[in-house]
Amino acid sequence: MTNTIPQSVLLVCLGNICRSPMAEEVLRQKAQQAGFNLLVDSCGTGHWHEGEQADERSRRAAKKRGYDIDHLRARQIKASDLAEFDLILAMDKSNLADLNNIKNKLNTQEKTNLAEVALFSQHDTQYQNQKVPDPYYGDMQDFEHALDLIESMADSWINKWK
Ligand code: 4NP
Repeated sequence: MTNTIPQSVLLVCLGNICRSPMAEEVLRQKAQQAGFNLLVDSCGTGHWHEGEQADERSRRAAKKRGYDIDHLRARQIKASDLAEFDLILAMDKSNLADLNNIKNKLNTQEKTNLAEVALFSQHDTQYQNQKVPDPYYGDMQDFEHALDLIESMADSWINKWK
């Protein structure tokens, strides 16, 4: 699957209010610019912020670079996402471990045709296998830094699919 172009990608972080909403819109725009017909969504492994808008700092950092994420609302991952998406990308190793736990708990029948699960940084030569650090308890600079990494990681997937 990593060698074929997916039709749908789900970006995953913990709260779905800081990192993955930015990653969703960055990947959506870059895929569109590259001419890929890609469905992109995001969610969190946690439930705490369900239904909320992205963190104001994420919205501000994204808007400064031309990504409008004001319309996005947080949601928690569901087991059915594993079957519905082709590729699921985690912002850090803890998110990845949570995703693999959900995957492992599925019964044998549910385990067919599941999404490939990987770190968002898997193919990024600059940040390979690194996390997108959680900026939630940080300041605006941490959000800008997260967005730097997200743009680089999104580019690495687009380049891989080209
Ligand atoms: P995110 O950041 O996973 O990038 O959305 C977080 C947002 C909220 C919390 C943790 C991380 N929280 O604990 O509420």
